[in-house]
Amino acid sequence: MTQNQWNAVDGYFDAVFGDEDPALAAAAEAHIGFDLPDIGVSRSQGKLLHLLALVQRAERILEIGTFGGYSSIWLARALPPGGRLVTIEWERSFAETAAGHLARAGVADRVDQRVGRALDILPDLAKTAEEPFDLVFIDANKPDTPEYFDWALELSRPGGVIVVDNVVLGGAVADAGNPDGGVRGMRRFHEKVAAEPRVSATTIQTVGSKGYDGFTLAVILPGQQDRPEATDLP
Ligand code: DHB
Ligand code: MG
Repeated sequence: MTQNQWNAVDGYFDAVFGDEDPALAAAAEAHIGFDLPDIGVSRSQGKLLHLLALVQRAERILEIGTFGGYSSIWLARALPPGGRLVTIEWERSFAETAAGHLARAGVADRVDQRVGRALDILPDLAKTAEEPFDLVFIDANKPDTPEYFDWALELSRPGGVIVVDNVVLGGAVADAGNPDGGVRGMRRFHEKVAAEPRVSATTIQTVGSKGYDGFTLAVILPGQQDRPEATDLP
């Protein structure tokens, strides 16, 4: 199996489903303006995020890592009237580009863009004590993913869903000796999730137009905090 074949198959699904419009197509090309690799999610991954938000009946969504706004558009379009997407981006030029794409997609009124360091903005979100999030999508700088997961857990309701992108990194995640900061971050993230009794999670490997990578899906177990200690059970 080769990247060419993965591209062809994603291309086939893109054509057969046909669910992209000019606003999404423009956001999908955001990387070109910044002379970056194509780091956004693919069309089928964007649609998956949209469907997860629908299944979750999400009214409040948090995204960490806006980049060009492509996944933001998919998520925002799953919101009911009155719903809200909060999306955090460290790089001001990315956030400004995303703002244009969100406006063109007709979702700017539903999206609250925050610009700055996520590890500064997330504690502020916790302090403002708004409604908790139903869905969180983490897709930002990879080494800090474990800390983003901590905040996602803090800011979500029981039954909330946390989705994390780029958790396989071409298979490097399975290499304990890999010194790359992103790989180490994703290993630390998995170890944290596995040790966290409040969530149940799995990671699915993916191939496609964005190469070989994967998503983690974590669900915050409802009523976990009300459970008696195991020693209290009859
Ligand atoms: C990178 C970031 C991403 O979110 C992604 O999906 C692929 C690559 C990166 O920073 O290299
Ligand atoms: Mg990503």
